Amino acid sequence: MSPNVDHYNRRITYLRVSVTDRCNLRCIYCTPVNDLKLLDHANILSYEEILKVIQVATELGMKKVRLTGGEPLIRKNFVHLVASVCRIPRIEDISVSTNGVLLKKMARPLFEAGIRRINVSLDTLNPRKYAMVTGRDCFDDVWEGLEVAEAVGFSPIKLNVVAMRGINDDELFQFADLSVQKPYHIRFIEYMPIARGGNWRPQKYISSDEIKSKLNTFGSLHKIPRSIHAGPARRYRFKSARGEIGFISALSHHFCPSCNRLRLTADGKLRPCLLADDEIDIKTPLRNGCSQEDLKRLLSKAIAEKPREHHAEFLKRGQCLRPMVAIGG
Ligand code: 5AD
Ligand code: SF4
Repeated sequence: MSPNVDHYNRRITYLRVSVTDRCNLRCIYCTPVNDLKLLDHANILSYEEILKVIQVATELGMKKVRLTGGEPLIRKNFVHLVASVCRIPRIEDISVSTNGVLLKKMARPLFEAGIRRINVSLDTLNPRKYAMVTGRDCFDDVWEGLEVAEAVGFSPIKLNVVAMRGINDDELFQFADLSVQKPYHIRFIEYMPIARGGNWRPQKYISSDEIKSKLNTFGSLHKIPRSIHAGPARRYRFKSARGEIGFISALSHHFCPSCNRLRLTADGKLRPCLLADDEIDIKTPLRNGCSQEDLKRLLSKAIAEKPREHHAEFLKRGQCLRPMVAIGG
């Protein structure tokens, strides 16, 4: 069996790397209400360690890397890491997920370091609501950051919108209109019950199908065929739109059968599944001077331990323990 194929015949080609558990925002769906425990600096993987893991992952057949957080742009010398990852030969695709607060200043250096694609969280187009959802009054910073990202040439620019009933479901048409006017890919993400003590409630969840049928009253959505880089999003476009609309339906349309990812947390744990708390420690072996072969074995072990699927039962059990801010989406 090829070293990056799991027990369910899924080829794992995508490594998502969280570079910090810290964030300059406190989004209601991401951060636990109380007891957000931050990692000590000593427990966070150094850039050197992260690069080692990525390098070995490419030797196992990984081709795609996403750098996330927390908020990756707040980690010191992040652009330096990006430039180093971009130089790793076998990586075909590298992207960054950010909340965009620092994008105005960072978009150009990131582009120059080699990044071409970026995902920005933006759950509302209303500045007052933005402050309520994220805990900080930074809407204008993000908006200006998006304009700079567009001007320096990022493409595509994806906007992640976590759909929350009673919070942003009254803005669907504004987002639809934004996808017509701007070349942005708006992606509605189903609200997931992550971070124990978080804000998730069943009544706040809206399915992608419900959003899609509402958007169909704005205009008809034309399906875009899946591309290799599309990931789990189902993609559509309004007629003559510059951008797109996508749906990421982790709860209603389980995409586990096509899952191609492995996650590395900021504190050096390999996490086979976003929604399962089983993790494999890679930091201790790294710091004990393990060999490349040992690292390969650990990555293969994490691939082998990928569960077939997440169980809807985790909804009943409560929520997965590690908050999203410490996994990186
Ligand atoms: N449900 C769905 N999406 C979430 N994200 C963070 N927390 C949640 C959640 N509970 C998404 C945000 C962010 C990305 C990193 O993860 O959209 O853009
Ligand atoms: Fe920070 Fe992103 Fe989590 Fe919001 S979703 S708190 S921006 S890590």
